[in-house]
Amino acid sequence: MRFRQWFLPCCSLLLVATGPVVAGTSNSLMDVSADGRWLAVAVRDGGTLSLVDLEKKARRRLVEVGRQPEGVSFVGESSTVAVAVYGEDRIVLVDAESGEKRRAVEVFDEPYAVVSNADGSRLYVTLTYPGQVVEIDPAAGKVLRTFDGFPFARGLAIDASDARLYVTGYHTSLVNVIDLASGETVDAWPGTSSDNLARQVVLHPKRPKAYLPHIRSRVTAVHGEGSIFPYVSVVDTASGDGRRRKRIPMDAFVGARVTANPWEVAVTPDGRSLFVVFAGTNDLYACRVVDDDYREIEHRGTLLLGNNPRAARVTPDGNTFLVYNALDYQVVEYDVKTLRSRGTIEVCPNPLGEEVHAGKVLFYSALQPMVGRRWISCASCHPDGEADARTWHNPEGLRNTQPLAGMAWTHPIHWSADRDEVQDFEHTIRGPLMQGRGLIRGRLNAGLGSPNKGLSRAADALAAYSNSHGISLSPYAKNGFSEAARRGRVLFESKRTNCRSCHTGPWYTDSTPRDEPLRHDVGTGNDDPSEKMGPAFDTPTLLGVYRSAPYLHHGKAATLRDVLVSQNRDDRHGRTSHLSDEQIDDLVAFLKSLPFEDPEPAARAARLVKIER
Ligand code: HEC
Ligand code: HEC
Repeated sequence: MRFRQWFLPCCSLLLVATGPVVAGTSNSLMDVSADGRWLAVAVRDGGTLSLVDLEKKARRRLVEVGRQPEGVSFVGESSTVAVAVYGEDRIVLVDAESGEKRRAVEVFDEPYAVVSNADGSRLYVTLTYPGQVVEIDPAAGKVLRTFDGFPFARGLAIDASDARLYVTGYHTSLVNVIDLASGETVDAWPGTSSDNLARQVVLHPKRPKAYLPHIRSRVTAVHGEGSIFPYVSVVDTASGDGRRRKRIPMDAFVGARVTANPWEVAVTPDGRSLFVVFAGTNDLYACRVVDDDYREIEHRGTLLLGNNPRAARVTPDGNTFLVYNALDYQVVEYDVKTLRSRGTIEVCPNPLGEEVHAGKVLFYSALQPMVGRRWISCASCHPDGEADARTWHNPEGLRNTQPLAGMAWTHPIHWSADRDEVQDFEHTIRGPLMQGRGLIRGRLNAGLGSPNKGLSRAADALAAYSNSHGISLSPYAKNGFSEAARRGRVLFESKRTNCRSCHTGPWYTDSTPRDEPLRHDVGTGNDDPSEKMGPAFDTPTLLGVYRSAPYLHHGKAATLRDVLVSQNRDDRHGRTSHLSDEQIDDLVAFLKSLPFEDPEPAARAARLVKIER
């Protein structure tokens, strides 16, 4: 959405502007057309784009766009919507008036955010993996330029003059700015090493400020009051040295009231109000923007929202703000002045089954019965089932967060195979990390003891959701194997390297339900003094390792090469010492091509056990 403002140069000491100033636009899961008629909402769970008529306050159409749509943006002032379809590596252009899909532009992998320039001649898209920004000509359906070097790029905003693009690093909260004339990265504002999950950046319409909601993951403290914190960072985009940046703690913003998982921010066109939605505590702070370069924002009001609010947008007239309660599949309209609700619009019917939906609500909730102290939800470390790229200092030793994709097929779970069902996470819910009341009444069985399944519908639902994460194919195998990957495959399959003896079957793991879990000592368990359960570990799946660094249970291998070389000096983890440098590269190229096919048909044919809940 673009805000158009007229204001005289004398009104602002910060901008020397004559004529119309355009505030630019920022990424979101929702967008409003320039004329205020249409609202477009990405429904990740349903693979659809919902188009809402804002005059009639009703959904007009639901368009299938493909797996996991994330960012949406109207193209300039038109009624065409660009949707970044994260799970299918394409940008789909949909005409809101007719509901027709006009074209699809293929990209390498994981398009997340999309923004348009003012006249709609260019779209910009972040590719979370492999960490790029691409420039697209929507009329020609072509990628024009690719900007490299933005690991896990997510948030994206374009400035008023279409000259600069702001990009956030999802796992770092690093803000980079690309000068669009030269294509160079011309400035950067790093966060702190614990900043995480920065998925959006929003520019102020008049002041040289960018706002980004994110969390902090403090891996050294695994308890409810010390590990995850909510922030809005404010970046001073005009500062000459490019360094001024501050974090506003959202758990100390209004007394001692704790919020969790800030997901999006929205600013009104007059620049006076700012809204932050919290997807964990299901609430919102309405703030006054303070022009003091110090406090930056002041609390105006708190609103309690529905389930898992993930997006906020203000209409172009500045009178209304919209909040998307992603797990109610509803948008609620509020009056900017009074903060009163003006009504609710259904975005779509619940596209998930009842049980998976109930489990997802719990997984994202930072409220009771899941959590006592409101800072954390399961999703704070496992956002959308992905990893948080962190190694936590758990009581049992260093533990790297695993992605949950394909987990239904690879029980037992945890690096130490000390849990055989997701219902065992009731121990996590009741434990020091989450301090929740819990989902199961009374006594709980040990991780590998009698089943906890069947004791509570809620715990079974949490398991059903956690086990519902499918796997995406590797972008490196889209057009078949590279020559290097082909050679690497031969090495991987060879008796000499022995990789296949443990990384077996369609999931490349021998982890499957049995009476006694199978663990292997591959020589990785001796260099962490805090380790209590090693030195033998559950074999992890290798599907998806192209994007899941760092590696090994303790996260001490930064790259796949490190797993095979510096972390395997004694050949206890397969045999790699006989391989030349080029052969290691080939083996890595093969690992990065996994999965090159859907593993489920082969897994079913081999009668592997799938734990659905
Ligand atoms: C503070 C971050 C954090 C939070 C909060 C968290 N997890 Fe985890 N999760 C981890 C880490 C780290 C691991 C790896 C631990 C291990 O293997 O011992 C993990 C592992 C898992 C696994 C095993 C994955 C596999 O393939 O073996 C599941 C399932 C899981 N978590 C579910 C949950 C659920 C459900 C919740 C909420 C009740 C939750 N987690 C809360 C960090 C977290
Ligand atoms: C004896 C069984 C065994 C063999 C043989 C074996 N692995 Fe592993 N692999 C494991 C275990 C167990 C782990 C987890 C170790 C840890 O986390 O400390 C692992 C971890 C990995 C990881 C890291 C995955 C992640 O998500 O962090 C990669 C990559 C890997 N192995 C590749 C290979 C390759 C390539 C070979 C052949 C050269 C091989 N493995 C041989 C059991 C084995």
